[in-house]
Amino acid sequence: MNSFPAWYFDESKMAGVDFEDVAQVEAYDRNQTVSTPEKEQALVNRLGISSRHTVIDLGAGTGTFAIQASLIGANVHAVDISQAMINYAQKKAKIFDATNIKFHQAGFLTYQHQDEPVDFVVTKNALHILPDFWKMIAFLRIAELLKPKGIFYLRDVIFSFPPVEYKSSIDEWIKQVAKPEGQGWTTQDFEMHVREEHSTFTWIVEEMLTRSGLKILEVTYLTPVYTEYLCMKPAS
Ligand SMILES: C[S@@+](CC[C@H](N)C(=O)[O-])C[C@H]1O[C@@H](n2cnc3c(N)ncnc32)[C@H](O)[C@@H]1O
Repeated sequence: MNSFPAWYFDESKMAGVDFEDVAQVEAYDRNQTVSTPEKEQALVNRLGISSRHTVIDLGAGTGTFAIQASLIGANVHAVDISQAMINYAQKKAKIFDATNIKFHQAGFLTYQHQDEPVDFVVTKNALHILPDFWKMIAFLRIAELLKPKGIFYLRDVIFSFPPVEYKSSIDEWIKQVAKPEGQGWTTQDFEMHVREEHSTFTWIVEEMLTRSGLKILEVTYLTPVYTEYLCMKPAS
């Protein structure tokens, strides 16, 4: 059994939304539009994941990506700190008949992989849960999970707007994406994200990725607040 120092981050104390609350888990699955089965299937294809590969999804949530990766035959490890999320994702996997997923209640900073290093590590909409120092530690751990030439895919709320424009950029984002009560994520949800969670700037994330030893192959600034990275662990 692994033990962590007394100063180690406590992943069970989640910032922002309480994903141990079953109602929040159900609302998450209902409200999310960026992680539909079709979109996640397209991502599985784009990354070139096949039945020869092993994939770790960190912060797997309700399991949409993990299920799609499993359905093409990949070996999938779905890792999430929330037992309520895992319970929900396991039920969904049964409905989709996605059998080759192992579920692990663990986090970016505590997951202990028991098998060989893997071909892909994926994390979407979850890394912002960690403060920046701990994001760096997460990247170091992700680099260790990957085999040489393994791929790391990251997508999250990561800010590419000029820092001096922080106020107008955040206000404009919330105005564009917030939905009326009962129809999706509300203004209050996005305000809480900025206030209580740990989304940061692209240039900080890029420096951290590079310092973890990963090579950034592609960056896509999808919007001024939403970014995706495709990285590779060098061969040696
Ligand atoms: C916004 S959801 C994203 C879920 C999924 N990846 C998606 O794209 O729909 C964030 C997930 O991260 C999980 N989470 C929170 N803190 C975590 C941590 N330290 N390690 C791993 N997962 C964590 C939450 O329980 C939640 O399921």
